[in-house]
Amino acid sequence: MIKKNIFSAIQPTGNLTIGHYIGVLKIWIKKQYKYNCFFCIADLHSWISIKNKKKIKNYIYSLLSIMLSIGINPKKCNIFLQSDIIEHIKLYWLLNCYTYVGELNRMTQFKNKIKNKNFKINCGLLNYPILMSSDILLYNTNYVPIGYDQIQHIELTKIIANRINKLYNKNIFTIPNYIISKYGSKIMSLCNPNKKMSKSDINKNNVIYLLDKFNDIKYKIINSLTDSQFPSKILYDKIKKPGISNLLVIFSNIKNISINKLEKKFLNISYKNFKNIFINELNNFLYNIQKKYFYFIKKKKLLKKILLKGKLKVKKIAKKNINYIYNCIGIIK
Ligand code: TRP
Repeated sequence: MIKKNIFSAIQPTGNLTIGHYIGVLKIWIKKQYKYNCFFCIADLHSWISIKNKKKIKNYIYSLLSIMLSIGINPKKCNIFLQSDIIEHIKLYWLLNCYTYVGELNRMTQFKNKIKNKNFKINCGLLNYPILMSSDILLYNTNYVPIGYDQIQHIELTKIIANRINKLYNKNIFTIPNYIISKYGSKIMSLCNPNKKMSKSDINKNNVIYLLDKFNDIKYKIINSLTDSQFPSKILYDKIKKPGISNLLVIFSNIKNISINKLEKKFLNISYKNFKNIFINELNNFLYNIQKKYFYFIKKKKLLKKILLKGKLKVKKIAKKNINYIYNCIGIIK
């Protein structure tokens, strides 16, 4: 049986959070053996917000080292750098011509980002979902693992792909579907569990980074917001107990124990005790990742080799696919 294709990407724009791990990377780990996976480091996306090549380079190697540390196997999947495959841009331009400004203006992420009007909005920020669509549609992608905040961008990708297929009366593009983690697609902030955990949060105490140090983790968890139920109950209830629910989701995902089982085990213990157990588990989990991370991050030659191997393999596929697409549309006569 032919393996179906998975495409997913992360922008190298900073330190990854536990939210990235639970929401997206865990799906990558699980799917890499059964699917034909394209895991992309989306460095072209980074230029929207960062204009410093050294910074982006460091983030690229850091992201790749994290991927290896958590168990993404470069022998099983295609790991590559977006900027190595210029075909993404060839498709990007084309898709620009089939997408409406109104569709981009409606994107929630865009609307949220421009709320802070203190900066000039570059076109990249508006057009960013089209670059994402290009990433996905270039590889006949069947499934796209994403976090909750990206659903709208996948829906737009489907609309663009269907629009072009219909116009030319031909299935030029495979229509992708997203995969989302059942509980973990949206990990919340520690001090404000009604808000999504974001790597760029100004309050670092809201965020658990995969590379956080032991003492920082301890401080952040102890100070995370719970609720005032008395006597305290360790129960999953997103509305009434968002803080505890968020910790339960994280706990469940790093230990691979169901939330149900955790509730039974910890129901009547105090929040303080629960937090202490949680801190311990989280530290063990992060320690294992960080040990490997600090090994890989020093192996620049190995990291470069992995990206080169990915580039060579993916380039061939991308070239063939873009030629097919350009042919269908009529750009290549
Ligand atoms: N925009 C995604 C994010 O910020 C990253 C990304 C870029 C992506 N291209 C993609 C995700 C294609 C899925 C598919 O998380």
